[in-house]
This record gives sequence, structure tokens and C-alpha cells, in this order.
Amino acid sequence: MNKVYAAFRSVGSYIPKNILTNEDLEKMVDTSDEWITKRTGIKTRYIADKDESTSDLGAKAAKKAIKRASLKIDDIDMIICATISPDYLCMPSTACMIAKKLGISNRPSFDISAACSGFIYALAMAKSFIESRMAKNVLIIGSEKLSAIVDWSDRSTCVLFGDGAGAAVVGATKNRDEAIIDINISADGNYYDYLITPGCGSSKPCSEESLKEHACYIKMKGNETFKVAVKTLTTDVKKLLQKNDIDTKRVDYFIPHQANYRILSAVSQALKLKESQVVVTVSKYGNTSSASIPMAINDLYEEGKLKPNDLMLLDAFGGGFTWGSALVPFSPLI
Ligand code: ACO
Repeated sequence: MNKVYAAFRSVGSYIPKNILTNEDLEKMVDTSDEWITKRTGIKTRYIADKDESTSDLGAKAAKKAIKRASLKIDDIDMIICATISPDYLCMPSTACMIAKKLGISNRPSFDISAACSGFIYALAMAKSFIESRMAKNVLIIGSEKLSAIVDWSDRSTCVLFGDGAGAAVVGATKNRDEAIIDINISADGNYYDYLITPGCGSSKPCSEESLKEHACYIKMKGNETFKVAVKTLTTDVKKLLQKNDIDTKRVDYFIPHQANYRILSAVSQALKLKESQVVVTVSKYGNTSSASIPMAINDLYEEGKLKPNDLMLLDAFGGGFTWGSALVPFSPLI
């Protein structure tokens, strides 16, 4: 039997309409535009409406990706949603909610939890399902309403995050030139408490006490996370490039998870990438966790910069800790 490969066919994103600037944040907590800009590179982020949920954002991004893949809703045979801000804490999954909103039923739909690395984890799963012939067209989504799990009284975290969604269709192909070249995903649970929402799970169920402690919101050891992130991201990408004998000169776009401008510029410098190769959206959107990479790919696409056969190098790091990198040609059906 001929081998089947997985190709990255299309992308879409959705950005909520409410903009939150650093100047707005100055009125909410003891911070300044200068501090936020210097330490993170973030200027603005977007916030979903109260009645807009993570699946609403995800479904809107997904519709665009499906249309751009020239597929009908019925052609999608699996939905994987990466999120840390699901519509519902335990069930149903946000992927099931997205499926309902898209009018898709009787298809496997599930969430994965890998924080900011979620999109690369979802891509790895889509590739595996396609290569094992269990699916042909997998819709993968990174969607986050982080404003719902951010402590708006904690200046060390609330300035960092934003809401948004990105989606992609990964499809089966027999043409090796179109195929995703390689993906690496990994994790180290020893760092579980560096980035954590400590409350409202089974280890600390929702209670008056956990609510009082703001335990259901994101807590982060920022400085320590920063150091591990730079080191891990650089090492991981170097290994992936070496394993596939690919020089950074062959990479058209380096699209890292957008957590902090200082992190992505340190990693880009360590990899000796040119400025024109590095995609930066953190200044506009802040950190949108699992959505940041597909949102960045979508911006490239909508700006007309992403062309068929362009080679994307993806790289992410997040809570867990989790991390991952991927070498992905853009292979739309044309
Ligand atoms: N405004 C003003 N001052 C602030 C703010 C703020 N918003 N936040 C913190 N400070 C103060 C601190 O209180 C501290 O003051 P002190 O020196 O008087 O004690 C000072 O600024 C420095 O604080 P640090 O935490 O050391 O600042 P740092 O330079 O490390 O920047 C940041 C903080 C931006 C969070 C950075 O550490 C970072 O980006 N970390 C990594 C984030 C990341 O990669 N996350 C992974 C993915 S996220 C996910 O998985 C969901």
C-alpha cells in the first residue's frame, strides 16, 4: 500500500473585537506602558465579549480554515481543539462545542491540554491519525479565552495574555513534497507548578477558600519560566533541524509561540535567523497560548506573504512544562 502523508492545507483565525491597550491596564493595576513594552514587547491584546466563549472563537476561525481548504463541512472527519480555557471545566469538550457550532456530528472530537504548545501537539496528532489512515481531513484548533482565567488584580500576569483563535486543516496526500516534514513534542512534569491554575481541579476542588485565594486563575513563576523557555526552545529547534539535515537558510518563516518578544528574539538570535524570517505578533495580540501560532500563520497568509511550498518552522513552550517544534511546508490545494 502506498504511504499516506499529512499536508498543512489551510489556516484561519478569529480575533475578538475589544482591544485592551497598555494604557487601559495602567488604569486597572499598578503598571505602565513602559514596563510592559520593555519586558514583553506587548502593546495591545484583544478580549472576548462576556457572552463569547472559547468555542465561539474557535468555530469562527475553523469556518475560515475549512473554506480556504476548499472543503465542505462534511469532509472534516476529526476535530482536535487545544485549549487551556475550555468552555466547561470537565465536559463537554470545547471540540464537541465547536463541532456543534459548525454543524458537524458523528465525528471524533476532543480537546488536548498542552498549554502554549497545544497547537503543535494537535498538529502531531493530526499527522499521526492521517498517516495511520484513521482520518483524511483533520481540523485542528487553538482557541483561548484567557481573559476568563486571568486574575485581573495580578499585574504580573494580567498584562501578558489575550483572547483569540486559530485553526488549520491538515489533509492526507500521497505527494511527499507536500508533507509535514517532522514534528517533535515533549514535556517535563517536574516543572508543573511554574505555570499553573492551582484551584478548581480535583487536587483543590472549587470552594469558598479556593475562590478567595484566586486559585482558579493563572499563576506563573515568570522569571524562572523565561530562562527554561529560552534554553529549551533553542535546543529543541536545533535538534529538529539537525535530525532532518535542514539549514535555517532554507526556512522561510520561523513562527514561535508568542509569549514575550525577549524570548523569541533570544531564540531567533541563537538560531542565527534573519529578522525577515521571524514572525512577530506578540505586540498586537499578547500571549494567546495555543492560539498564538495559528493566529500568526493566518496573519502571514492574509498579508499575502505565505506562499505555497514556503517552509514554516514552528516552535512552542508552555505550562507543564510542554514544548514542541515542527517543520511544515505550506501546501494549499491549488
Ligand atoms: N508592571 C510593573 N511592574 C511589574 C509588573 C507589571 N505588570 N509585573 C511585575 N512587575 C515587577 C515585579 O514585581 C518585580 O518588582 P521587584 O523587582 O520590585 O520585585 C519586577 O517587575 C521584575 O519582575 P520579574 O518577574 O523578575 O520580571 P521579568 O523581567 O522576569 O518579566 C515576565 C516578567 C514578562 C512575566 C517574564 O518573566 C516572562 O515573559 N516569562 C515567561 C513567560 C512564558 O514564557 N510563559 C510560557 C508560556 S505561557 C503558557 O503556557 C500559558
